[in-house]
Amino acid sequence: MRLQLRYYGDPILRKRASDVREFDDALRELAEDMIATMRREAGVGLAATQVGIEKRVLVALQMENPEDSEAPEIVMVNPEVLDRSPDTWIYEEGCLSIPGIRGDVTRPEGIRVRYQDLHGKSHVIDVDGMFARVLQHEIDHLDGKLFIDYLSTGEKTLLKTRLKKIAEKYASQQAPPR
Ligand code: NI
Repeated sequence: MRLQLRYYGDPILRKRASDVREFDDALRELAEDMIATMRREAGVGLAATQVGIEKRVLVALQMENPEDSEAPEIVMVNPEVLDRSPDTWIYEEGCLSIPGIRGDVTRPEGIRVRYQDLHGKSHVIDVDGMFARVLQHEIDHLDGKLFIDYLSTGEKTLLKTRLKKIAEKYASQQAPPR
């Protein structure tokens, strides 16, 4: 199934997605479609809420550096950050749901993540660098949080008009609030 990307202004991007309890064929199909959508849009990660599905599922490239677009993808179901390193770093992030906008975001360098795979098996992994950043960005999406939320008040003020334009441009494609 071809998934429709949701954009800034769509209320679903502000919702907390629900835990997945059924590890069935529908879930595997969703994951496959999300990977296809991420690849098609040349993204490095995608959360289910970004395609209008309120389930705690993300796909991401296991990148070692920002140029690593050939990195293999991973699917995480019910991902949760268990621990964060005290070290942080700044990187200019973007988001498929907020086209044309980028901004510096400070995030922990390394994280410990617990997630389930498509069969429901639990895993705990330690990741760092670019991959850790992508995962934090996508897990935020599942909690209704966007990278622009981390920007300073001044930066947000500067982006206000452009964000409004994005919301208006895609308003016709968005589902009405439920
Ligand atoms: Ni994003």
